[in-house]
Amino acid sequence: MAEDYPVRILAIETSCDETAAAVVENGRKLISNVVASQIDIHKQYGGVFPEVASRQHVLAISTVIEEAMRKAHMSIKDFDALAVTRGPGLAGSLVVGMNAAKGLALASDLPIIGVNHLEAHIYSAWLYPEDEKEIPSPPEFPAIALLVSGGHSEIVLIRSHLHYERLGGTLDDAAGEAFDKVARLIGLSYPGGPSIQKAALLGNSSRFYFPRSRMEGSWDFSFSGVKTAVLRTVREIEKESGSLPVADLAASFQAAVVDVLFEKTMLAARATDAKSIIIAGGVSANQLLRDTFTNQKIFPLFIPRLAYCTDNAAMVGAAAWQRFNNKLFDDLDMDVFPTWPLTRISL
Ligand code: KG4
Ligand code: ZN
Repeated sequence: MAEDYPVRILAIETSCDETAAAVVENGRKLISNVVASQIDIHKQYGGVFPEVASRQHVLAISTVIEEAMRKAHMSIKDFDALAVTRGPGLAGSLVVGMNAAKGLALASDLPIIGVNHLEAHIYSAWLYPEDEKEIPSPPEFPAIALLVSGGHSEIVLIRSHLHYERLGGTLDDAAGEAFDKVARLIGLSYPGGPSIQKAALLGNSSRFYFPRSRMEGSWDFSFSGVKTAVLRTVREIEKESGSLPVADLAASFQAAVVDVLFEKTMLAARATDAKSIIIAGGVSANQLLRDTFTNQKIFPLFIPRLAYCTDNAAMVGAAAWQRFNNKLFDDLDMDVFPTWPLTRISL
């Protein structure tokens, strides 16, 4: 593929509770990025309600896609391919994006590319906005990616494009899930990550010591211990006084999770002689996590801008470009794959 030929991909993402569409050029330059969040709707349930999510995607998808094209000043004939998240995610949500992408592919004859949502999160580290003055250098391989979202916490070794090796992951709750559950325990609203981060700003992170489960000898994580420890502390306090030191609990919990994520990722980077560290997924929006990794100067660090951390379609367009370059197109009978693991792609 000639470097100067701008490949433009229209990407769609509906794996969970954001309806998103984006236009990405050559896998990196973000031309437009539209995200319709359902957070306000799911807040009342304290988490994502799958049937409601699916219905909301149906209501929003056409507008979101049209908006992404309008903002890019492009129409369907300006694209080289369509990309869509195929999995992992909620089946009823994935299907809405998939059907929209297939409809567009049928009408336009454009090739269609099914993208793994985890791979998309990783490739969010390659994105830069259209008005960026200097094109940032991309991560060098081998890279260690810490992928932390509401559904996943994985350490992945990336040897080259599309060549992933999962070193380990959570044995119970995902990091984001732990934030969401602990937020609920201490009376904070969904999504828990941003609520805990905000509450923690006024808290003392040394007030409580919550366990750091290090899972020595493996690259796995476990967050059920820290969650149970918070629960126990909450019960004890409620028995004694009734009023919860929410800020201190939030700060102490956040510190425990960030410690473990940081230490494990650094160990993995050392063990694999990594040339870069990538932090991606919704939890990579966490400021303490970002600062902790930024403060280490051993490995070049790639953390997506805040707007690309939580679910969006720009990252789907970024990952799809790698598949486009390898002519990895899908058929129109492709189905969603709600449990699709991140695996090495044979080229
Ligand atoms: O990647 P994402 O948008 O969706 C999934 O693929 O799961 O991640 C959502 C998760 C939620 O669990 C949310 O609480 C967490 O990311 N999150 C955060 C922050 N912002 C979002 N966790 C910690 N700190 C944050 N600032
Ligand atoms: Zn995600």
